[in-house]
Amino acid sequence: MIDFRLQAKNDKDATVVLLTSGQTHPLFKNELEKGEIYPVLEDANTFLFVGLGKTDKLSLTDLRIQVRKACLSNYLQKAKSLEIIPHSKTDAAIIAIIEGVAIGTYVWDKYKSKDKNDKTVKIKDVTIVVENKKVFTDAVTICQGVSLTRDLVNENADTTTSEYLEKTVLALIKGHKNISLEILNRKELKAKGLNLHLAVNQASNKEPKLIIVRYEGDKKKEGYTAIIGKGMTFDTGGLNLKPTGSIETMKIDMAGAGAVCGVLKNVLALGIKKNLLFVLGIAENSIGSTAYKPGDVITGYAGKSVEIGNTDAEGRLVLADAFAYLVKNYKPAKMIDLATLTGACVVALGFDYTGLFSNNDKLAAQLLDAAHKTDDRAWRLPIYPELKEHIKSPIADLKNTSNIKGGGASTAAEFLHQFTQDTIWAHLDIAGSSYTEGTCRMYYGHGATGTGVRLLTNYLLNN
Ligand code: BES
Ligand code: ZN
Ligand code: ZN
Repeated sequence: MIDFRLQAKNDKDATVVLLTSGQTHPLFKNELEKGEIYPVLEDANTFLFVGLGKTDKLSLTDLRIQVRKACLSNYLQKAKSLEIIPHSKTDAAIIAIIEGVAIGTYVWDKYKSKDKNDKTVKIKDVTIVVENKKVFTDAVTICQGVSLTRDLVNENADTTTSEYLEKTVLALIKGHKNISLEILNRKELKAKGLNLHLAVNQASNKEPKLIIVRYEGDKKKEGYTAIIGKGMTFDTGGLNLKPTGSIETMKIDMAGAGAVCGVLKNVLALGIKKNLLFVLGIAENSIGSTAYKPGDVITGYAGKSVEIGNTDAEGRLVLADAFAYLVKNYKPAKMIDLATLTGACVVALGFDYTGLFSNNDKLAAQLLDAAHKTDDRAWRLPIYPELKEHIKSPIADLKNTSNIKGGGASTAAEFLHQFTQDTIWAHLDIAGSSYTEGTCRMYYGHGATGTGVRLLTNYLLNN
C-alpha cells in the first residue's frame, strides 16, 4: 500500500510533472503530445514530464490512465518516493490522479517469488501538494477500501472462505460504536428456514454464513439502506458443472461480498452519517454426492418454492433468502445488492460497465450519477412485468432459470425482484466489471477491480 502525503519531502527520488498542451515547467519548455513521457535528470531527482494533450480532450479516465502509465514507467524503477505536480487543482483532477496512482499501480503479487532482476516500479510514498485537504484524504481513504476488496477477491478461494470474510468484518468493526452484528451459521440458517442458501452450500465442507452488520450513523432514525453482497467463495456450477474456460476465475464469485467489505471500511473511515445494513450472503457452490440437484424444489425463507433449473444459477438463491430475511426482520427502506450474477450481463455490457437494475427510477438515477462521477461505471438494463412469465415453473412458485433463451441478466434480476416485497431496490450485476483478465483494462491491472466500492461510497456520501 502506498503512503500518500500532502507535504512535499525534500528527499524524494522522483517528480512527475503533468502537463496539458501549452503548459510548461522551468526545467522543460517543450510541448508534449498526449501519452508522451520525457525524463530529465536533476541531481538526485528524476523529473518525468508527462503529456496529457489538450485540456478539452482530456477525460478523467484518460488522466487516470496517463498517471498509471507514468508511475509504472521504467524511468521510475529506482524511485521509492514520488511527488506529483498536477496540471490542474480541481477536485475532480486531484481525485483522478490519486486513483491513477492507488488503483493504477495496485498489484496482486503475494504468491510471486521475489526476483532480483525484477524491474517493476515500487513506489512507497507519493506526495501531492493540494489546496483541498479533505478531498485528498477522502480519495486516499476510498482507494484503501477498493484495495481491501481487490485483496479479498484476488486471494485463493480456500483462503477467502466464509470464516475469513467473517474475520475481516469483525476486524473492520472492532472498536466502532453504533454497530451491532447478527451472524447466521448453518445451524441458525436451518432453524430459521433459509433453505435456498443452505441448498447452494450443501456439498461444501465450509460453513454457510449470512452476516448482517447494522450501523446506526444517523441518530434521526432515518430508514436503513441495506448493501447486500453475493459471497460465493467458489462457484463450480455444482452438478451443472462449469466447463474448462469458465471455472478458472470463479474465486471472484464473492466480489459482491468483497465490495460490501470495502464500502463498510469506507463508511467507518469517513464517518458517513447514515443508517446502514451491510450484508454478506456467503456460501460455496461445490460439487459432490451431497450437492443439491437440478429438478429439486426448495422452499426458502420467503415461503416461496423454487424449482432448480440449473445448479449454476446459485447466486440468486442465496440473495433471495437474504432479501426475504432482511425484509421480514430489518425492514430496510432500500436495498442495493452487488452480485457477480450472470454471464449474460457480460455478453450484454462487456467488462467496463456494471449492469444496473432497479424498481425505482430515482434510486437508479442516483446510482448512475455516482457511477458517472466515480468512473466506476454502470449502465441500466431493463426489468419489466412480463419477465415474471419467463421464470414460471409447472411444479413450483418460481424457477431459478429462464424458460426462454436470451436476456439472462434481466431474468436473473427479475428473480431477485420477486423477493424484494416492494422495498425500493437496485441490483448491480458486476459479473463482468469485477475482474480483468490479461494485462490491463483502462487503469486496472490484472485481477480484481474492486468495482462497486467507489460507486456506493459516493452514493452514500451524496444521497
Ligand atoms: N457466478 C456466475 C456468473 C458469472 C459468470 C460471474 C461469469 C462472473 C463471470 C453465476 O453463478 C452463473 O453461473 N450464472 C449462470 C446462470 C445460468 C445457469 C442461468 C450463467 O450466467 O451462465
Ligand atoms: Zn453459478
Ligand atoms: Zn455464481
